[in-house]
Amino acid sequence: MKKFDDTILITGGAGFIGSHVVRLFVTKYPETLIINLDKLTYAGNLENLKDIEDRENYLFIRGDITDEKLVLSLFDKYPVSGVIHLAAESHVDRSIINPITFIRTNVIGTVTLLNVCRDAWKDNYKGKCFYQISTDEVYGSLGAEGYFTEETPYDPQSPYSASKASADHFVRAYGNTYALPYLITNCSNNYGPNQFPEKLIPLTINNILNNRPIPVYGKGENIRDWLYVVDHARAIDLVYHKGQKGETYNIGGNNEWKNIDLVYKLCDIADHLLGRENGTSRKLITFVKDRAGHDLRYAIDSSKIRNQLGWLPETPFDKGLTYTIQWYLNNQEWLQHILTGAYEKYYEQQYLKR
Ligand code: NAD
Ligand code: TYD
Repeated sequence: MKKFDDTILITGGAGFIGSHVVRLFVTKYPETLIINLDKLTYAGNLENLKDIEDRENYLFIRGDITDEKLVLSLFDKYPVSGVIHLAAESHVDRSIINPITFIRTNVIGTVTLLNVCRDAWKDNYKGKCFYQISTDEVYGSLGAEGYFTEETPYDPQSPYSASKASADHFVRAYGNTYALPYLITNCSNNYGPNQFPEKLIPLTINNILNNRPIPVYGKGENIRDWLYVVDHARAIDLVYHKGQKGETYNIGGNNEWKNIDLVYKLCDIADHLLGRENGTSRKLITFVKDRAGHDLRYAIDSSKIRNQLGWLPETPFDKGLTYTIQWYLNNQEWLQHILTGAYEKYYEQQYLKR
């Protein structure tokens, strides 16, 4: 095997955001070996990485982050200097159905990785870093006013956000107790190609394509701050290389949308791209029972990363949404491959009984 200058372990690299991060690092840093450790749960899909899977600086390992022996063996075999940790259970609705899976992967999995990093790196922390990819949901829910800053106290409201908050606390605790060098970023809602069609935007697109009802929770008045996934991957690259160890950076799109307005927008762009009469897809919108404990509003103040590291979201929303819908149109095979029996079963449990 070629000798590399550096080795980075990326967890969850076969998922939505992880695959964009792996692609960016593998192509931008050919002298760095990128190891992608992923369990390939329902959300992990190696088809996301087909275009780079043959690169010599890319290595895929199928495995569970809670498997300490496996993680240790990777550190024994490769001189890992950094971990970019994205592997997680990531969907709020699933966390309401089955919280334990979230505790297992998001909390125990994170602590397992932290333990291995502490032990493997303890003789020399120089040049090492554990980078935790977290969410704005750890801050709880906003009212009509205000923004989440890095100083906003944690106040998670769903089993998903509670598990991510817990993991973030452990990362800081390892920094404080063992001096483990770390970084944390808390990002707002991502959208873009390769997102599993359980989240609002790809689910809406998939249902438009299949003339299926578009389920909008409650009155559709909840607000999210949307960021194009490639802009998030660029921020991760920047923070990993230029961020101050022990610091937290919020990442957001400065792009708040009420769910119902976003769904209207998706319907109208899709009608245009599909050559359907304007207004056709809006007829699919169906208001369904609200999510339990549904957070009203998330909005990120990302002035720290903008001012200190010079990051800015670059993709205008209309452009990103159009590109995303077009991607799903062009990749129906990708969609079909993941619309397995298991996903359909979840879909039935989540929506058809509401
Ligand atoms: P995803 O669900 O698309 O992908 C998660 C990946 O983790 C999958 O490839 C899955 O196979 C893998 N995985 C799950 N459990 C594992 C385990 N035990 N061991 C190894 N691999 C495992 O998630 P995503 O939307 O790409 O999110 C990635 C990260 O970014 C998560 O940590 C999430 O909390 C965070 N985040 C997501 C968003 C968003 O809008 N999607 C926003 C902010 C932060
Ligand atoms: P989602 O994409 O699940 O992300 P998160 O809950 O992490 O923000 O949901 C985004 C918003 O869309 C959230 O307010 C819940 C709402 N939503 C619907 O109205 N219908 C749906 O079918 C889904 C999946 C979400």
